[in-house]
Formats: sequence, C-alpha cells, structure tokens
Amino acid sequence: MEPWPWKTIIEPFRIKAVEPIPLLHPAERAAALRRAGHNLFKLLADEVTIDLLTDSGTGSMSASQWGALMEGDESYAGSRSFLQLQAVVHDIMGFPHVLPVHQGRAAERILARTLIPPGAVVLNNTHFDTTRAHVEQAGALALDLPVAEALRPQDGSPFKGDMDLAALDAALAEHGSKVVMVMLTLTNNAAGGQPVSMANIEAVSARARAAGVPFYIDAARFAENSWFIHSREPGYDRWSLLDIARRIFSLADGCTMSAKKDGIVNIGGLLCTRDDKVAELFRNELILSEGFPTYGGLAGRDLAAMAVGLGEALDVDYLRYRAKSIAYFAEGLRQVGVPVVQPAGGHAVFIDAGALLPHLPAEQLPGVAVANALYLEGGVRSVEIGELMFPGHAPLQLVRLAVPRRVYTQSHIDYVIEVAAKVAARSSTLGGYRIVHEPPFLRHFSAELAPLQG
Ligand code: F0G
Repeated sequence: MEPWPWKTIIEPFRIKAVEPIPLLHPAERAAALRRAGHNLFKLLADEVTIDLLTDSGTGSMSASQWGALMEGDESYAGSRSFLQLQAVVHDIMGFPHVLPVHQGRAAERILARTLIPPGAVVLNNTHFDTTRAHVEQAGALALDLPVAEALRPQDGSPFKGDMDLAALDAALAEHGSKVVMVMLTLTNNAAGGQPVSMANIEAVSARARAAGVPFYIDAARFAENSWFIHSREPGYDRWSLLDIARRIFSLADGCTMSAKKDGIVNIGGLLCTRDDKVAELFRNELILSEGFPTYGGLAGRDLAAMAVGLGEALDVDYLRYRAKSIAYFAEGLRQVGVPVVQPAGGHAVFIDAGALLPHLPAEQLPGVAVANALYLEGGVRSVEIGELMFPGHAPLQLVRLAVPRRVYTQSHIDYVIEVAAKVAARSSTLGGYRIVHEPPFLRHFSAELAPLQG
C-alpha cells in the first residue's frame, strides 16, 4: 500500500447531499443547557452544532449504500438482501451462521439468554456497558481483564486494548468450568477505543480453546482494529485489511456486532457462530424477539445497506483517513493544552478531564464540567465517561469526543480544537457540578445536574 506523502489529510470522498447544522447564539446554548438539567444527553439535536456524542448509527451512508437501499428486497422470508449480506459476512468473517439483528445489544441479549447461565463467568478485555448489563442480567459475573497500560492515559503503547494474559490464566484457573465465554471487544471502546493486537487475539483464542471455552469477538469496530494491526503490528504492513480481518475472525467461534459502527449504517447488527447447535439456539431466540432469521428485526433495505457498508469499512483509503484524522484531532487538542489519552483511539478522542481540572475531585464531576464548557463555548456535544457514568468505580475522569464516520470535515475538527483551546485557557476557573436528581441505574442518561457555583 502507498504511504500518504502529504501533510494535509483529505477526506477520500466528496459530498453529494448536505444537511445544515444549527449555529446558536451563546445565550441560546446557556438556556438549552439549563433546560436540559445541565445534562448533554437531554439536549435536542437542533441545539447542537457539532455532535460528538457517539459514532454509533451517526455515520453517512455512501451513494452505493443509498443505491442498495432502493434495491432492498422486503420479502419476509428468503430475502435477496439477506443473501447479499450473508455472502459479504461469509467473505469477511467466514462464520457459516449469520443472523441479522437490529443492533449490537440485541445480539448480546440472544447470546446471554442462550449461552450464559446464572452463576457463570464471562471474561472480556473490557465489557462494553450493554454487554456487561446482559451478562449481569443473566445472573453471571462479567470480569474485565485489560492490560495495565489501559489505565495510564499518557502511556503511548500501541495495543492498549489487549487482554492481560496473566490475568486470563488466573481467571481460568480460579473460576474453572464456570467460565462459559471469553470475549474480546475490538477495539476496546470502554478503554479509550484502543486496539487489540493480532498476537493478543491469537493468544486469547489459544487459551480459550485449551480451556474448552467458546471465544467470541465483539466486532463493533473490527475494521478500525484491523487498520491498527496493519499499521502498528510488525509483519502486518504487507497484509491487506481484508486478510487481517479474516485472520481475526478465523480465531473465534463467533461474534456479536453493532453494525452502527463499522457497518456504517444507521441501524443494524449481527450475531454469528460456527457451531450448528448454537446456531439453532440463536435462531429460536431470534425468532422470538427479533424476527424471522432472514431479516432479524431489520428491513430488507437495511440488510442491503449493511452488506455494502461492511465492505466499505475495510477500504484502505477510508481507514487511513479515519485513523489519521482522529490522530490529527488528538494532536490538535494536545497542542492547545488539552490533555488527551495517548495514543489516539480508533473512533474517538478522550480528554483527561481529571488532569485538565486538577482542582475538582471526582465527586464534583470534572468530566461534566469540561463537557458542559465545550457545549457552552461552541455547541460541541461530547459525553462524560467518569464518575457520573460509573459512580464510585471510574478509574479516570474522561470526556469522549466520538467522531461519526464520514460526517465532519477537517474544518469542523479545527473548529472543535479552537473551542477546546478556549475552554482550556480558562480551565482553572471551571467549577464542578452536583447531582440534583438521579434514576436508580444508568444515571448518566437522565440525571439532573446543577453547577456548584453561580
Ligand atoms: N459493543 C460495543 C463495543 C459498543 O461500542 C456498543 C455501542 C455496543 C456493543 C452496543 O451496540 O448500541 O448497537 O446496541 N456503543 C455505542 C457508543 C452506543 O456510543 O459507544 P448497540
């Protein structure tokens, strides 16, 4: 593959349809934030200028995907669009059994109901919160086994998403036959969107096989992870991204996937397995909750768009641009004095709010203070990943700026960096927040907050 010789990163696409974004007056933003109880989740989309809340389901579809949408086959059973999707998944992932689902957590729910009994143990580099919730809902224990580097924001190690192999050995020895599944989340979203190396995937797979435990991949960002293996892991620079992805999936017994990320669709997901008996269990549960196995809770057109999107996500020019533009974003923030988790992740930049606001203890929600300041300053919406989201057990006080796929251009990113620079310049004056009202669980979505001062 040709290296990119230019300093300027160009988006490897041009824009065919545009969607206006709201530009608000500062007083309008202040009023909107007050109305939202100082919680960015409760803002209306029309109150946000640059929306970096999530990269999930927020991407732009390509002209080919919009074309495929029109060709979608809406037959209840045996849809052509399903066959199209199945062929693409066979090609990339190689799993014989392909079940469409409406989004990632539907796959997780089916997996939990069929393969995870009460009292069981599931091991993961880091469970994404919906995965953890489904494991726990099944009455099982969800254990995270990240490497130590994952918790050191300034450690620039290339594969901070890896699973700690010594911890895996210890957990397999301690919990024995209670361990019913080993999972790897690619990339490791909850640990900063950091990638997992091929060496780690191989080692985890070998240990799971030796222990006779199924090994599943959470494939939400498998294409971005493949890019990092290609660009960072010795020996893989000559491999195509498709071959890297094939190798990854060849090591697993199955996968769950939210296609709202690297499927580049607004809705959709997958559940796959190699095992005929497990596939039967999955299908029965799928029919009960999602729909017939050839549509799985989606319209035929959604399956067609997903089939095209999965292929586009592995395009080398697209992935190079995506990784470079996220690294550019992280570096731009660092240069204006905003501490960010190193190295840049695959889908987002994480601001270390604890380091930016050392005067605020975790209980005063430094992540919320930074996220709300970014909104008030320039209408940028991000998400706190710290004390508000994980009360009492957030290792770091972070703010995630997730970048939707193929949506924003470099000038949008330059604007966000400028907004963040202004916030950083007055960081010592930013006050904390307190919680006025909170629901019993997942409090970050709906909690009402208030500034501690003024
Ligand atoms: N697994 C990972 C690694 C995820 O990041 C997500 C969603 C899911 C599973 C669940 O998929 O939303 O389609 O049901 N992550 C989004 C985010 C919500 O903002 O990171 P879903």
